[in-house]
Amino acid sequence: MAVKDSEISEIIRGLSATQKHISPKYFYDERGSQLFDAITRLPEYYLTNTELGIMRDNIDEIVAMVGRQASLIEFGSGSSLKTRILLEHLSELAAYVPVDISDEHLRSSAADIRDEFPHIDVLPVVADFTKQFDLPTPTVMPVRNVVYFPGSTIGNFEYDMAMELLRVMHHEAGKNGALLIGVDLQKDPQIIEDAYNDSAGVTAEFNLNMLQHLNRNFGGNFNLGEFKHSANYDPEGGRVVIELVSQTEQTFEVGDSAFNIADGEAILTEYSHKYTLDGFAAMAKAAGFSVQKVWTDAEQLFSVQFLTRD
Ligand code: AVJ
Repeated sequence: MAVKDSEISEIIRGLSATQKHISPKYFYDERGSQLFDAITRLPEYYLTNTELGIMRDNIDEIVAMVGRQASLIEFGSGSSLKTRILLEHLSELAAYVPVDISDEHLRSSAADIRDEFPHIDVLPVVADFTKQFDLPTPTVMPVRNVVYFPGSTIGNFEYDMAMELLRVMHHEAGKNGALLIGVDLQKDPQIIEDAYNDSAGVTAEFNLNMLQHLNRNFGGNFNLGEFKHSANYDPEGGRVVIELVSQTEQTFEVGDSAFNIADGEAILTEYSHKYTLDGFAAMAKAAGFSVQKVWTDAEQLFSVQFLTRD
């Protein structure tokens, strides 16, 4: 079955469930990626700037933990400034291996990285990193593999899936392998809610753009004016629940399927989990990782963590 057919069936399955849902991966068409970039520059969206600050403030220690001649395996295409800070300071990398499902995205960001860092062996891998994949063989034999997963993207996954993903990282890290990961922390709920309900309305546009993406590429006919962005922090679940709430009783179609949605009924588009340091360490332990070092900002908003394989 073509990728698109299996994606349409995935979307239809989600919209047929009691709790209608669409995977957050459908945020990221071209417009969605632009909107996410804009989110990272919002004053309320503390995640990106805090993580960058943590990386900058602790780069010497981070580089020392990674060690010499490592192969850095990024889960994601690695277009971020955080990756560049790492690559600038890791002077003797064996290889840099960005892993992404989007061939196009991966190629263009790998080309940029090669231009900026001509001495680095850049070996992109097209793969769905939620499942095990084969690693390329660098020219220089790596001392160890270090998986890099910035941005608290781990927070998109519910516990069982996050665990599966950590197990894949454990596998790809291999013997003596390590994980460098950005993890957002539990904090004053108001700070979290503001980050997902920005005053400029960019997050609302980002959320609604998912329906536009479905309209353009997956045979949808959503009326964007009849849905509203909603993001609420659930302190018990330790997660932000991001939804599109129908403003009226209506029907919509995706592919050849029609759906009814009630007035006030929500389509779940994303979870963004926030962790305690203990909670994350326990989850990582269950996947076979031990936390060696945690770097945070002064307000303990966000953490960058270095873990090793047990
Ligand atoms: C890319 C998953 C880390 O959860 O904060 C930002 C995505 N969604 N604003 C997050 C997102 C709405 C983001 N992650």
